[in-house]
Amino acid sequence: MIIKWIAMLLVMSVPATAQKFEGLALTPPMGWNSWNTFEVHINEDLIKETADILVMSGMKDAGYRYIVVDDGWEAPERDINGDLNPDPGKFPGGMKALADYIHSKGLKFGIHNCAGNTTCNGLPGGRGHEYQDARRYASWGVDYLKYDWCDHGTADARETYKTMSDALFAAGRPIIFSLCEWGNNQPWLWAGDIGHLWRTTGDITDCYNCQGEYDLGLRFIIQLQDGLEKYAGPDHWNDPDMLETGNPGLTLPESRSNFSIWCVLAAPLMAGNDLRKMTPEILDILTNREAIAINQDPLGKQAYKYMDHPGKQIWVKEMTNRRWAICYHNSSDQTVTLRINWRHFGFLEGEYEIFDVWQDKSIGTTSRNRNMDIASHDVILLKLHPLK
Ligand code: GAL
Repeated sequence: MIIKWIAMLLVMSVPATAQKFEGLALTPPMGWNSWNTFEVHINEDLIKETADILVMSGMKDAGYRYIVVDDGWEAPERDINGDLNPDPGKFPGGMKALADYIHSKGLKFGIHNCAGNTTCNGLPGGRGHEYQDARRYASWGVDYLKYDWCDHGTADARETYKTMSDALFAAGRPIIFSLCEWGNNQPWLWAGDIGHLWRTTGDITDCYNCQGEYDLGLRFIIQLQDGLEKYAGPDHWNDPDMLETGNPGLTLPESRSNFSIWCVLAAPLMAGNDLRKMTPEILDILTNREAIAINQDPLGKQAYKYMDHPGKQIWVKEMTNRRWAICYHNSSDQTVTLRINWRHFGFLEGEYEIFDVWQDKSIGTTSRNRNMDIASHDVILLKLHPLK
């Protein structure tokens, strides 16, 4: 009898294994998020127009699916039932109608909220309302939830995010769960069963070298991804934050670097620019099929930093069918010349054809070494196909 009781107590004290909807993000999610450009200045027309452009521009065909409405969509208070509602001035048609519109375009609908009491902009957070909110999101047709970490007080991150993950599961609608906890509690160590992606850092900003109190330039966000590759894979991704590609604070090479490095890192590709003002050069970057195929490779490997010379990094991503992607990044302020000796890449076996993604052509094989110039803050992105 005593043994039976002890066994029962043991079972009761082990936390239930987290359940999440499996298979929603077998490759890194792709889409657009309102925050990097618009912050809280969002509304229904803007989101619908963005959905239209995502389709018309060819971004949908290139793989972008999720339209995620970030902070700023909510009314300042819950209603008398404790339910969340959109700000009636910004979203007069309501979130269900917006979701229906986005779905009618063959796209998916994402929304933002926060695991704390309030969002970073003081709107109602989800703490203590997880099951009620999850049912609300499901009833609106939400497909993706980005869940922030402001105003969390003394809450335990793992427990809090698990509660919301369980609530989403219980609500019954498959919803991608994106943890936005800024990497504070090393979510890569515990979030694989809870969500589909987790932020690894504080906020990105559209600046290469900036280092603010709350946000970081591209250069620093990139550095912080080193070593996290072992935690990423199908359905559980490291998220170095949304893209700044095309935003005014980045030069064209910096935008190209942002996109290319996110591709080799198997990072979620959430565009964060104003699609209404996108130049053809930026659209070409965001829809480059070869770069996206590297990102979406089903093996789901995140690139590791193969070499770090001052001002020059090499990121290497293993792909299916014995292919490799190699991304050289010049973080210095001058053009540098790469002297590529293929023998230095110990993982290569035999001879490979080299495809240069941004030149969009084959540039020969690994049978001979080569020198290539790489402009300041730019990348060279190569895809190696085995010849035998
Ligand atoms: C931050 C988050 C940003 C954005 C913002 C909204 O915590 O990292 O990506 O969602 O909150 O207030």
